Amino acid sequence: MRISNFVKQDRLWGRLTDLAKIGATAKGGVNRQALTAEDGAARRLLADWALSRGFSIFQDDIGNLFVRRNGSEDSLPPVTTGSHLDTQPTGGRFDGAYGVMAGLEALEALEDSGIRTRHPVEVVAWTNEEGARFPPSCMGSGVYTGRYTLDWALSVQDPAGTSVGEALTAVMEQTKDAAPRGFGAPMAAYIEAHIEQGPILVSAGETIGVVTSVQSQNLFEVEVFGEEAHAGTTPRANRSDAVLAAVEIVAELERAAQDEADAMRFTVGRFIAKPGAPNTVPSHVVFTIDLRHPENSEIERMSNLIECLPGEVSARRRCRAKVTRLSDSPVTPFSDDIVGLIDSKRRDLELPGRRMPSGAGHDAMYIPPLAPTGMIFVPCVDGISHNEAEDALPHDLADGTRVLVDCLAELAGREG
Ligand code: GLV
Ligand code: MN
Ligand code: MN
Repeated sequence: MRISNFVKQDRLWGRLTDLAKIGATAKGGVNRQALTAEDGAARRLLADWALSRGFSIFQDDIGNLFVRRNGSEDSLPPVTTGSHLDTQPTGGRFDGAYGVMAGLEALEALEDSGIRTRHPVEVVAWTNEEGARFPPSCMGSGVYTGRYTLDWALSVQDPAGTSVGEALTAVMEQTKDAAPRGFGAPMAAYIEAHIEQGPILVSAGETIGVVTSVQSQNLFEVEVFGEEAHAGTTPRANRSDAVLAAVEIVAELERAAQDEADAMRFTVGRFIAKPGAPNTVPSHVVFTIDLRHPENSEIERMSNLIECLPGEVSARRRCRAKVTRLSDSPVTPFSDDIVGLIDSKRRDLELPGRRMPSGAGHDAMYIPPLAPTGMIFVPCVDGISHNEAEDALPHDLADGTRVLVDCLAELAGREG
């Protein structure tokens, strides 16, 4: 008996639809940024669905929320799946939500099948994967795996000056019935399901991406300091205009990032100028650079330039610059065993697919030190993501969940 026969497409789609109502935007997307009231409501809904099916819930001190189906040898480490419930400010209905709902559907399919597994099987909703409000991304998984300290994560502030610690208290209150859980507990394996967020599967007419690795990604914050002055009276020679210096820095770096193969990804997604008055020469700019590449050597070459060029340009414009590397993640290869398992379950289900690297970052990239890790991609319409128009087809989402549950059942040691 295949556990995947118990996956119910309508139940999965219904849950995704209900979840997408929390933070729904007028354009059909979702704004459910990390540690907002909407994030808290989504976590509560997940907890209620889990409890109503008899699963137990746990949360750790950074708010990662775990749903557990016990194993027959319950002291064994769990086989874990999951993703995130937070979104970009103009996010879609599936980025993250799919991986959590696919995990819940997998637990329900196991339950419906009546099969017991030796290992417990868990679904985790990692805190602040997006890093949109509180950079960097993958904060919850980063703290869980020891990449970031809890104290540092709690101190990170959003642009309004609210800290993770302050925002987290209210959100964790929503699920205070969850039992406490420590960081870093071993997992037997981790598999995350996600929409691809790019055009490869959809263009090829394929259903399953078996993810082999995640490309490298570094995140920088650049601050440029100038001096306020009157817009009408101050001659050019007397200006220290932080915006003009910052614009020149961005333009020079973007040119340097252009490569023949179009493999380097260079994004300035946040650019804040102060004091923000039209008639005052701006004295302070803070902007971010999100940099990605499939090769560590290339991202390091560009990162070195990001670390020195802002100072040189700022000096030419009588300003000063400070560059901070907020996060730094080399290429993450996934476990050959898990990649092989996902590919074999895909073939058993006769689903067209391929092995492929991930262009996007995911919590799964921080798990390999703890457990053999892999990911399952399903197509998204037109490859669009981080956009309110993000969309996916119910049967593709169900197919990805079928592959997922067959992998989880095998890894957890099904009985009977
Ligand atoms: C995740 O959303 C990423 O930035 O790749
Ligand atoms: Mn995601
Ligand atoms: Mn995302």
